[in-house]
Amino acid sequence: MDSRRIVIAVTGGIAAYKIPELVRALTSAGHICRCVLTREATQFVSPLVLETLSQHPAGDDLFDSNSGEIDHIAVADWADLVVVAPATANTLAKMNHGITDDLVTAVVLATKAKLLVAPAMNVNMWSHPATEANVAALHSRGVLMVGPEAGELACGWEGEGRMSSPADIAEACHRALTAQSLTGQVVLVTAGGTSEPIDAVRSVTNRSSGKMGFAIAGEASRRGANVILVAGETVLATPPCVQRIDVQSALEMHEVVMRELPNTHVVVKTAAVADFRPARAEPRKIKKEDLAPNEGIRIELVPNPDILADVCAKVAATSGRQVVVGFAAESHDVIPAAQRKLARKGCDFIVANDVSRTDAGFNVDENAVTFVWPGGQIEELALLPKHQVASEILDRVEKKLGERT
Ligand code: CTP
Repeated sequence: MDSRRIVIAVTGGIAAYKIPELVRALTSAGHICRCVLTREATQFVSPLVLETLSQHPAGDDLFDSNSGEIDHIAVADWADLVVVAPATANTLAKMNHGITDDLVTAVVLATKAKLLVAPAMNVNMWSHPATEANVAALHSRGVLMVGPEAGELACGWEGEGRMSSPADIAEACHRALTAQSLTGQVVLVTAGGTSEPIDAVRSVTNRSSGKMGFAIAGEASRRGANVILVAGETVLATPPCVQRIDVQSALEMHEVVMRELPNTHVVVKTAAVADFRPARAEPRKIKKEDLAPNEGIRIELVPNPDILADVCAKVAATSGRQVVVGFAAESHDVIPAAQRKLARKGCDFIVANDVSRTDAGFNVDENAVTFVWPGGQIEELALLPKHQVASEILDRVEKKLGERT
């Protein structure tokens, strides 16, 4: 996503030792970070570490205007987002009541930017009615929250109160900074390769990693959509707030997609669906000892349904309002083949990629795609990280949705 300015406000909890990782996660995603701390927080994490990682001054002094660098109003005005992490019970209480007796609470009160808090405290402090009331009040004022999580706490107790991981806080920051342009939309994404059983242990599959589809599901969810991710073979972790349905074969994927279709507004068919499956899946393992020496086996393949074509036919026969995006994985003659595929299947547009390239497409983190539109228009994108390709695809989906309302 675009580079944004994030203030990380650190308060005095043991989880402060994880904040350097949060700074790293956000700066590697291209954001500019500045850290402010409470005096107590400096007991748990050194301002020098935060200063070095963020490449900006990091301090705890509310009145240090010598350098003009740490001025709470300047910092508050600079931010696109202020994230308080860890947010102690004390800081949440002060935030609720508008008390500003340290640099963090002064920045928080002064800023017009979005506020995100990552609470961390003892389980009894978290479940105390005073904290619950403070959290509810902050929530009602639009303050965003990530965590806390349940688990073993540094104080020795078990329960809710652990600060969310730096990766989850970074994801919450991305969400907070993303326009909620797909709120109210249900987006169905298929991803990964299908796996067609030969016997109890073997299958026919392909090299798709599922990365492109997972990136689209993650970005759609960040934009506020309800996302259903129908996933074939993949080892990838489910993006946050995404409903995942695992399937194996093309027949299973077909069944799930057709079942969910009436409730969706957008369908993105990234999956690498096997076009054929063994006519018969042996329920037990095929054993060599059951064959004559050097005897081979023949596997008869029968065609699978074309899920994308069936989706497009169903949409055309019903509301006609859903936006349907197809992919085309081609090893040669990419654009003409994708254009024929678009005409054959009838989706809104096709995202074509050349799978013969080693730097893009299957199993790598980048993709070079071309959008192929009905009427012959084509748009070629440069080689981009898959999360950026996901954004480009969803920008076009949103435009199509806009044309249909
Ligand atoms: N697709 C599908 N069901 C199938 C095969 C493909 O839904 N049985 C979808 C894919 O998810 C993708 C698009 O159709 O969105 C194109 O898939 P691709 O594998 O590129 O093309 P095929 O239709 O399988 O044709 P071919 O393999 O001959 O290129």
